[in-house]
Amino acid sequence: MTHFHPTIKKLQTAAAASALLGAALTAHAGEVEVLHYWTSGGEAKAAASLKATLQAKGDTWKDFAVAGGGGDSAMTVLKSRVVSGNAPAAAQIKGPSIQEWGAEGVLANLDDVAKANNWDALLPKVVSDVMKYKGSYVAVPVNVHRVNWLWANPEALKKANAKMPTTWDEFFVTAEALKKAGIIPVAHGGQNWQDFTTFESVALGVGGADFYKKALVQLDPATLKSPTMLKALTTFKHVKDFTDKNAAGRDWNLATAMVIKGEAGMQFMGDWAKGEFVAAGKAPGKDFLCAAAPGSAGAFTFNIDSFAMFKLKNTANVQAQKNMAAAIMAPEFQETFSLNKGSIPVRLNVDMAKFDDCAKQSAKDFVATAKTGGLVPSIAHGMAVSSAAEGAIKDVVSQFWNTDTMTAEQAMDRLVAAAKTK
Ligand code: GAL
Repeated sequence: MTHFHPTIKKLQTAAAASALLGAALTAHAGEVEVLHYWTSGGEAKAAASLKATLQAKGDTWKDFAVAGGGGDSAMTVLKSRVVSGNAPAAAQIKGPSIQEWGAEGVLANLDDVAKANNWDALLPKVVSDVMKYKGSYVAVPVNVHRVNWLWANPEALKKANAKMPTTWDEFFVTAEALKKAGIIPVAHGGQNWQDFTTFESVALGVGGADFYKKALVQLDPATLKSPTMLKALTTFKHVKDFTDKNAAGRDWNLATAMVIKGEAGMQFMGDWAKGEFVAAGKAPGKDFLCAAAPGSAGAFTFNIDSFAMFKLKNTANVQAQKNMAAAIMAPEFQETFSLNKGSIPVRLNVDMAKFDDCAKQSAKDFVATAKTGGLVPSIAHGMAVSSAAEGAIKDVVSQFWNTDTMTAEQAMDRLVAAAKTK
């Protein structure tokens, strides 16, 4: 048994007290390491607004940006960091993946922040359910992106004497006209998440919201292999005929830049593309057009960005993490961030006065489609199925896009098999 000399004990008590005091004094000056993949023009501006919000609270932002649209590279890096016991404070994790991380036991409980700030009342239930693991908040939602958009350059359309298409038949007429005018009809980046983004918009437009849900949310084998899926796959592959030969590997924002410059006429992409147009000083309705992807005006593929928070030991950093969670849900931040990002606020009843017509349309359709059943989760952006099934289906879609010898029938068989991936 160890006996401490009374003076040593006193010294130890004093040291402990001063350590506590130190912790209290620095409670407002923690550090939050933030893993994200917002590195393009519009995204970087949006990320900077988050950093500024955090720093205004006296905390420090430690940037952990992993470039790569759609976040596949970021998720790989995140896994290796968490496995080695060195998780960041916050990571851009979305949809069902939040549950997967929750089950690992590594996420922090944010219920006190959520309660103090009334999150349950401020968020649509479809959103708050995703942010909770076993009934407790472990993540905070940032915004709502709509994925089923078609972007276009009005000058290019004018040169080709073509119009913004609303149906698939019209789309191919416009694409042909652009081609004849010497303009690349569709700006595409041949990366599998971009192929998948285009595919889900085609599937939604060709088959409608019920088909989309059965095929790409419920993964029903009979729908994955059906005449409607055959039509969706054939239409999707036909879009490729209107992309350029340099598409392989191109980043999405470089594809958007082609539309901005008028080298290309149209792009299928979520409304983070609008962040690029806006960052380039372009105005919607004048310099660029937005419309629901052909055939999908009555539906809305949602993609909600969110940050999951990891368990931390340092109390100052835990406080900074909570500060960040609270700041993300504050109305001013919700507005500023989405104005830069191209999205709409996730918080209910935020004033849309400062937003452009594309965002206003998105906000209106978000509410309307929630009532009609047209509101569906984006499979390409991690909202609909497990990350394992998503990855397997995404691979089939890209193989089909890239392999001219693969038939749509073969692709359907592979989709059915991929959907069983656990
Ligand atoms: C999405 C993400 C968006 C945007 C886009 C391109 O998955 O939700 O915030 O960053 O990828 O990276």
